Amino acid sequence: MSLPVVIAPSLLSADFARLGEEVAALDAAGADWLHVDVMDGRFVPNLTIGPLVVEALRPRTRRVLDCHLMIEEPERYVVEFARAGADIITVHVEACRHLHRNLQQIRGLTHHGGGRVLAGVSLNPHTPVSAVAHVLELCDLVLVMSVNPGFGGQRFIPQVRPKVRELRAQIDALGLATRLQVDGGVTADNVHEVASDGADAFVSGSGVLRSEQFGRDYRAAIAAMRSRAEAARRR
Ligand code: DX5
Ligand code: ZN
Repeated sequence: MSLPVVIAPSLLSADFARLGEEVAALDAAGADWLHVDVMDGRFVPNLTIGPLVVEALRPRTRRVLDCHLMIEEPERYVVEFARAGADIITVHVEACRHLHRNLQQIRGLTHHGGGRVLAGVSLNPHTPVSAVAHVLELCDLVLVMSVNPGFGGQRFIPQVRPKVRELRAQIDALGLATRLQVDGGVTADNVHEVASDGADAFVSGSGVLRSEQFGRDYRAAIAAMRSRAEAARRR
């Protein structure tokens, strides 16, 4: 099943002193989703955003808030993120002892608009696709990390590309509408590669918010990523 391309700029590359304005600017620039990188200093060696910040940003945009939880024991916090206004909650397979239960928990949450929260699972670069094979039906989204999580501005790891192709094949074989997202080092220069592998949702932090190539013009960066991803998927 072919879903429309989603471009999800990551707030991790934003100016945190002006986060509300950055959200409004990305919204106005045509971002489909806003990617929120949540880090706990344990699962990854960095600390970032919690539910309070998501709650503060919620009134600034009607776009999807795509919350990527890079935290241990995410089940302790998913209710708070849903309450704060998350539309999508993605957890890491490596951080979940009971992934099946965790996904059911997320799918059972109601979000600010009244619908259910969408559930995502993320795989670190070394984690095989088989780690999610038996929960794919519970996933609204699978996120393939193309850098080691923790920091923005890292280089794309090309060895993850076969995983994207493998997941595309499995999702299609099961006839699912699961989104296939790639996160880390994705820019307008390489988005065509992961798009041709079968990804349909693209996270980009520095590629949108800090791109010299587009003179930090968010609209231009998002438009270029979208058209190059769409062109690669048509081929
Ligand atoms: C990394 C985060 C990514 C990151 C992407 O831990 O999950 O979302 O912010 O940033 P870039 O596009 O700069 O790699
Ligand atoms: Zn992320």
